[in-house]
Amino acid sequence: MKMVILSRSAQVDSTRRLVDAARARNHQVKVVNPSELQMHLDGKTASLFLGGKPLPLPDVVIPRIATSLSSYGLAVVEQFQMRGVLALNDAQSMGQSRNPMRCLQRLSASGVDIPQTVMARAAGDLKQMLERVGGVPVIVKVQKGPDRHSAMVCETRQSLEAALEAVVGLGQDLIIQQYVHEVTSDMRIFVVGQRAIAAVHRSHTSGKRKRSAKEKLLTAAELAPAQRQAAEAAAKVMGLELCTVDMLVQGGVPKIFEVNAVPALGDMETATRVNIAGAIVERAEALYLKQKTRAP
Ligand SMILES: Nc1ncnc2c1ncn2[C@@H]1O[C@H](COP(=O)(O)OP(=O)(O)OP(=O)(O)O)[C@@H](O)[C@H]1O
Ligand SMILES: [Mg+2]
Repeated sequence: MKMVILSRSAQVDSTRRLVDAARARNHQVKVVNPSELQMHLDGKTASLFLGGKPLPLPDVVIPRIATSLSSYGLAVVEQFQMRGVLALNDAQSMGQSRNPMRCLQRLSASGVDIPQTVMARAAGDLKQMLERVGGVPVIVKVQKGPDRHSAMVCETRQSLEAALEAVVGLGQDLIIQQYVHEVTSDMRIFVVGQRAIAAVHRSHTSGKRKRSAKEKLLTAAELAPAQRQAAEAAAKVMGLELCTVDMLVQGGVPKIFEVNAVPALGDMETATRVNIAGAIVERAEALYLKQKTRAP
């Protein structure tokens, strides 16, 4: 199988893992920086150029598109797909999962349990918004770029007001989420081909209240059936062949709050000793075989 990994550099840890896994299974693999590709459309064909020359088309493309290049990068993925190249993940699903509002909508519409969430464009009636998510504390998801966001805990109404003023002032969407209490576990689950293949608990090294996602300690986790089912359902709903699903477990009930279509491999592989890169390559093989046997 000929594979292209779309990544800004072959030195990136996850990219290197995928390259190694592909080579270990005797595939030809090339790392291509999506920002160095040029696309051409003429109403009939879609072509890709690298350094002025047509790029030989691979059988499979694995996009590792950075959030900073989302718009162009996903168009590149689409261009490959227009030529019949199999993409893990496909551009449309990736785009949808990168929009936190649309991601939560899709999950919710399909019966996947998520924390209560209010989305708005204007600050409006704070009291009402707060009531809808069960009062303070709340989590405000702040946009950091077109496809990046970070979470901030607001413990009081005053701090929420200040946060919202800032968010609205920047012309950003408001996402206010119920703070999930009594969380027994903050988990990240790696799903490949709609199967949960690795899971970790995420905890703070210092044990202080969760405020930021940084510096989390990952330890291998066993999945309860409900957790496995929720993670696999989320990946399926989002149409993602590979992703991580983040969930908070409250009284045994998993609540999903984030899905990442371009997840890092290294830390989870180290924590779980699961060959995630190998599983991704195997999934690509299976899908490619299916596509080939279906083709006329
Ligand atoms: N609704 C919630 N209730 C309670 N805690 C939450 C909630 N949403 C998120 N958190 C906690 O805050 C952390 C960061 O939230 P989130 O993942 O949305 O932000 P992020 O910037 O994308 O972080 P990361 O880099 O880990 O992906 C989560 O790992 C979780 O522990
Ligand atoms: Mg997160």
